[in-house]
Amino acid sequence: MAQTEKAYWSSRTAFILASIGSAIGLGNVWRFPYICYKYGGGAFIIAYLVSLFLAGIPLLILEFALGQRIGGSAPVAFAKLSKKFAWIGWLAILVGFFITTYYAVIMSWAANYLVYSFKLSWGSDPKSFFFDKVLGLTDSIANFGSIQTHLVIGLIIMWVWIVLSIWKGAKTVSKVVYFTVTIPWLILITLVTGGLTLPNAFEGIKYYLTPKWSMLLKPQIWQAAFTQVFFSLSVGFGVMIAYASFLPPKSDLVNNAMIIALSDAATAYVGGFAVFSVLGYYAGLQGVEVAKVMKSGPELAFITYPEIINHLPLAPLVGVLFFLMLLTLAIDSAFSLVEGFVAGVMETFGTRRGRTNIFVAAVAFLIGIIYTTGAGLYWLDLVDHYMTFFGLFAVGFLEALVVGWFTDTEKIREMINAHSIVKIGKWWNVAVKFLVPIASIVLLLSSVIGIIIKPYGGYPRWAELVGGWLLLAIAVILAIILGKQTVKALKVKSSEG
Ligand code: PFF
Repeated sequence: MAQTEKAYWSSRTAFILASIGSAIGLGNVWRFPYICYKYGGGAFIIAYLVSLFLAGIPLLILEFALGQRIGGSAPVAFAKLSKKFAWIGWLAILVGFFITTYYAVIMSWAANYLVYSFKLSWGSDPKSFFFDKVLGLTDSIANFGSIQTHLVIGLIIMWVWIVLSIWKGAKTVSKVVYFTVTIPWLILITLVTGGLTLPNAFEGIKYYLTPKWSMLLKPQIWQAAFTQVFFSLSVGFGVMIAYASFLPPKSDLVNNAMIIALSDAATAYVGGFAVFSVLGYYAGLQGVEVAKVMKSGPELAFITYPEIINHLPLAPLVGVLFFLMLLTLAIDSAFSLVEGFVAGVMETFGTRRGRTNIFVAAVAFLIGIIYTTGAGLYWLDLVDHYMTFFGLFAVGFLEALVVGWFTDTEKIREMINAHSIVKIGKWWNVAVKFLVPIASIVLLLSSVIGIIIKPYGGYPRWAELVGGWLLLAIAVILAIILGKQTVKALKVKSSEG
């Protein structure tokens, strides 16, 4: 295998910031507040924290151990456990790769909105502005309409930004994350402070946090909590494995995992204040209930928020801050996914970093063009559903299964503890052997059964086959082929060494 230019983090802080940057994203300022409200406000926070400690943190520690103690990007770390398992690492990063193809497109929307904010270009009807002008949305998933040039331009800029951010791997990322983590945090605090001073803001907060304790007895709240914890911590896509592989040998993994997980949870909690304070204000303005103005997903950021911005003092400034926050929140999640993939490619094929970055970005950009067409939103929604759920639960399940049942779990726990100030007890073995795999398989089966009973989002079955099952089948087949390649590369390396 040719020598690869492996870079290390410039400091422990850089690693922590990079991992926090990957973990905090749209999941914290959109998904968490919305899901939290839906599943009982304060009660959900309890379910969230329980899931975080029972399954999220153990899985994060497991990924750190794979990357740092076993050593390598996801494919290499799994191949080192056993050559039978290299494909699992590839599956994780391939799913991550497919996610980046559309993640960058959402960033392109946000970049366009950043420009629109200066003149509040969405006018008095942000809904038709978003669907008709920005997306050029057609009437069905089969009708591609036309490619939206402004989205393609935004997409090119996003890819250049991503490639530059990871240009020399951990070395460049170490510098970039000081900005991409602190800027969205500063903006978030500004928006929360501003939001809380608006009339009726408190109504929104009450709505967000009032606990419905009886919800804790329902299985759905637990399902939602585990899903949110996994998604938010960025586990299951090989990102945290790759990031940990750039750590020096004697790193403390347990402490790092705790800091990262708790910062992520805190950001989500604060994110809720930013969202619900303005929703409370807007509901008061319209004389309707908060429930009526609350939306999830693209609607919240690209329709509801612009609509609210129209009614705020300092409207253009708030718009600029809001979309800048979305962009800086998203960029480090996006480049972490790319870095996880690039690291796997480089360690398997011995390719040079610069070329690998550009190659991966070019392929992802070309695939991303599909999402800039008039049917883009439909495909994005469909592929996202399959990839996120499959990636999170299937890979989480396989990781825990391999480490819990096919390797010496106790030895891995000792390896983790060797350089960690806070030691993990035997509870970690129980979490890895039972809690994480059981939670993941239950979530995986329930989402697969759900999809079989009722197609996701009411899309036609053929679209589901192409955007869901076919893509997953491609990922699995590629993972098996590439896994063999990783094993070969490791053999060559060990015979050379
Ligand atoms: N954790 C991110 C969020 O909460 O928005 C989403 C994400 C980013 C998931 C990167 C996975 C990943 F590898």
